[in-house]
Amino acid sequence: MEMLPKLLLLLLILDVARSAQKLQEFFEWKIMDFDFPSERDRAMAIFRGKYKPENSLPVGIEIWRDKLFVTVPRWKEGIPSTLNYVPINSPLKNPPLIPYPDLKSNELGNCEQGLSTVYRLKADACDRLWVLDTGTFGIDKTTQNVCPYALNIFDLNTNKRIRRYEFRPEDVNMNTFIANIVVDVGKTCDDAHAYFSDELGYGLIVYSFKKNTSWRFAHSFFLPDPLRGDFTIDKLNFQWGSEGIFGMSLSPLQEDGSKWLYFSPLASHREFAVSTATLKNSSKVGESWREFLALEERGPNSHTTSRVMDEFGVQFFNLIDQNAVGCWNSQYPYHKKNHAVVDRDDVGLIFPADVKVDGNRNLWVISDRMSNFLEASLDYNEVNFRVYFAPVEKLIEGTVCQGAKRYRVSGNYGFDRYHVFGHDYNYLF
Ligand SMILES: *[C@@H]1O[C@H](CO)[C@@H](O)[C@H](O)[C@H]1NC(C)=O
Ligand SMILES: *[C@@H]1O[C@H](CO)[C@@H](O)[C@H](O)[C@H]1NC(C)=O
Repeated sequence: MEMLPKLLLLLLILDVARSAQKLQEFFEWKIMDFDFPSERDRAMAIFRGKYKPENSLPVGIEIWRDKLFVTVPRWKEGIPSTLNYVPINSPLKNPPLIPYPDLKSNELGNCEQGLSTVYRLKADACDRLWVLDTGTFGIDKTTQNVCPYALNIFDLNTNKRIRRYEFRPEDVNMNTFIANIVVDVGKTCDDAHAYFSDELGYGLIVYSFKKNTSWRFAHSFFLPDPLRGDFTIDKLNFQWGSEGIFGMSLSPLQEDGSKWLYFSPLASHREFAVSTATLKNSSKVGESWREFLALEERGPNSHTTSRVMDEFGVQFFNLIDQNAVGCWNSQYPYHKKNHAVVDRDDVGLIFPADVKVDGNRNLWVISDRMSNFLEASLDYNEVNFRVYFAPVEKLIEGTVCQGAKRYRVSGNYGFDRYHVFGHDYNYLF
């Protein structure tokens, strides 16, 4: 007789485990809507084919004060605006996207003044928003390069663009596709760098804000692992075998004034790292093969596209095959046993496309069923896009990621390579 309640309890626990526990749903949309000046404008935009609601897939997020930025790449027609935001305190569960800084600045094909396609973006400590415009329309074989790749930086206080930098022809190649950006601010706002991962052209591009110039690293660690190109997400099987360097995150500042840039190709289960001291030195291009480090593999089903590290050195990464978000406490070596799944949800977290930590140490996640959208189709009667949120401390409670100590700039904490990377470093080099 005692067996039954126990079994029921177990079933209950198993059932609950399939939906997000710690992450709280913040926004949800069945289909993306934009904030048009009036209902009439919306109707006209639909009538003219300028707005096709079913073609918008939100991909990247960023949080700055009371704004949640949401990007929508122009993979298909009818996307009014690629860079948008919603007010975090919106009373709606599905607020329409507001073009940022305005609709005109999001004009497709207006290379000088407009943004054509934006994937991921980063707000920095100096209240600047760093946005890479890929200048593209379409996806895969249909991609048209209507404008050159250009970095756009906005002043978030004035909503004015303060810089536009076109990548040099040498920064890109025939296969270039860049969807990720990280920003590295040093001691002053002027001392800032951005790093861009070229997923299909296999490069890492560095931009110096002070010098207003860029350079490009090549490395075999940027290539996909040929054994890791097979994906199954939400029961859909497909091959993304040529996807190289993708997600990146920066460690807190180390004693010598540098940070670690962690990265992983998309078709790979392995993590790699390189010091920003290497990346920031343009003379190192072509002379730094051994300064890139190979860490361990995360284990089966651990493709990731997005990661972020908080000020305590806890890295969060999306686990797209597991409908989950994972963490690594970088106080310990990059090894499976020092990783944990902080939350998963087989409905709500299908393709968690982007993860970010805000200034109050909350983790934000957007999930968008991207693989279904690209490889099959979405059912717009269902909720397809969700934004989740949770305080980091709550999320890592009871996991190996709990109890990370704030990195100190002085002292030896986390600086020693052996300590950070464990045996892998000595094993490989
Ligand atoms: C930075 O370089 C770009 C060239 O891509 C140029 O158009 C722009 O004026 C420069 N900005 C500054 C602040 O020097
Ligand atoms: C940049 O790299 C070159 C070549 O490795 C080296 O000689 C130089 O000292 C480095 N500069 C800095 C500022 O570290």
